Amino acid sequence: MSPASRLLLREETLDPSFVPPKLPHRETELSLLLRRYREALGKGLPYHLLLTGGVGSGKTVLARRLAADLDRAGRLGEYPTHATYVNCWRRASDRTVMLDLLRGVGVSLPDRGYSLSEMLDVFEQGLRRSPAHHLILLDEASALVRQGTKLVYLLSRGREVGLGSISLVLIAAEDLLPHLDAASRSSFGVTHRIALAPYDREALVDILEARAALALRAGSFEREVLDQIARIASSNGDARFALEVLANAARAAEDEGAGQLTAEHVRRAKGSILPTMTESHLEELSTPELGVLLALSRSLKGKGASAPSQKVRRAHAALLEELGGAPMSRTTFWRTLKELERDGLVTLDVGASGESSQLAMDELPASLLATLLEERLARPRGRKA
Ligand SMILES: Nc1ncnc2c1ncn2[C@@H]1O[C@H](COP(=O)(O)OP(=O)(O)OP(=O)(O)O)[C@@H](O)[C@H]1O
Ligand SMILES: [Mg+2]
Repeated sequence: MSPASRLLLREETLDPSFVPPKLPHRETELSLLLRRYREALGKGLPYHLLLTGGVGSGKTVLARRLAADLDRAGRLGEYPTHATYVNCWRRASDRTVMLDLLRGVGVSLPDRGYSLSEMLDVFEQGLRRSPAHHLILLDEASALVRQGTKLVYLLSRGREVGLGSISLVLIAAEDLLPHLDAASRSSFGVTHRIALAPYDREALVDILEARAALALRAGSFEREVLDQIARIASSNGDARFALEVLANAARAAEDEGAGQLTAEHVRRAKGSILPTMTESHLEELSTPELGVLLALSRSLKGKGASAPSQKVRRAHAALLEELGGAPMSRTTFWRTLKELERDGLVTLDVGASGESSQLAMDELPASLLATLLEERLARPRGRKA
């Protein structure tokens, strides 16, 4: 493939660990936090924060962006900011977290036998050597806190316990306050808590667009395809999942040398990540359901992210004629669609301002599903509906 025809130009910018320069739909939170931190640190005061939100709501990326922006801001008051990030997911003990914090201030201790208080002493020396506003980000802190960590208490009272100016950022999916001791809880008052709401579909499209603009060749993707991905991910408001589908779809497009990212690539990507539709699933469907699904697959084949309902209904009427079956009433057609929607196989999107509904199927490439359904409808069936 010639470099000119490549689509995925900067794959690393779609990686979950990449921190993009702009965070659409988290700008308000980011600027609020930057303001609060600049103000507090400028006066030499620490600022603790509890950041919560569901999976893929942007907690980690927001905290990392905040740390990078503060770092770049240079001196605030007397000192620059120095951030240390620790993911506590598999380090749910104070000692293992402490080892990472030590590394963050440039000390490496062998992992043997040191008590927590010995480690804190070494940590204190490390902090003294590089005077700064220390911002400590403890990500995925649930397990640590639930196990009754002492670190939250110690780090949030850095000055009282002789550790100096430390600002603690706790990041978790759930609210951690009920699990903290009263003294620590008082460090996380209302202005020290931010709960991120799940992204809605429009927000996901904007996020996907910003990331696609970084990763893909200009002109190789359209908003309609990004909206298809956003629709798939919007039930959980999970940007991570949306970006994973985008990355896989882009790889699928690139593998086949396509110059454009299409709805079929998205369906292929979605099917490979989280297949809701399997062959055994098709066994469960009634003949009318198989017919409607086939009509939809044919209407989508190679064409788009969704198809207008009238078009699918016409394709369905033609299909029944082809199979020699009796026509289906409009009511039955819709009831069948609703059943498929309940099974999670079809998405019904009622258009704005009285436009007709759009029907979508994001589980498998439409061409593949059409072939599977054609085989199945041609085969004599044990179970008749
Ligand atoms: N507003 C945004 N703009 C651009 N990218 C975003 C935005 N929000 C999230 N992302 C991206 O979505 C992915 C998931 O975000 P992130 O890892 O921050 O979620 P999280 O809330 O920490 O999820 P988890 O609870 O699973 O750790 C990352 O790749 C991140 O860069
Ligand atoms: Mg995270």
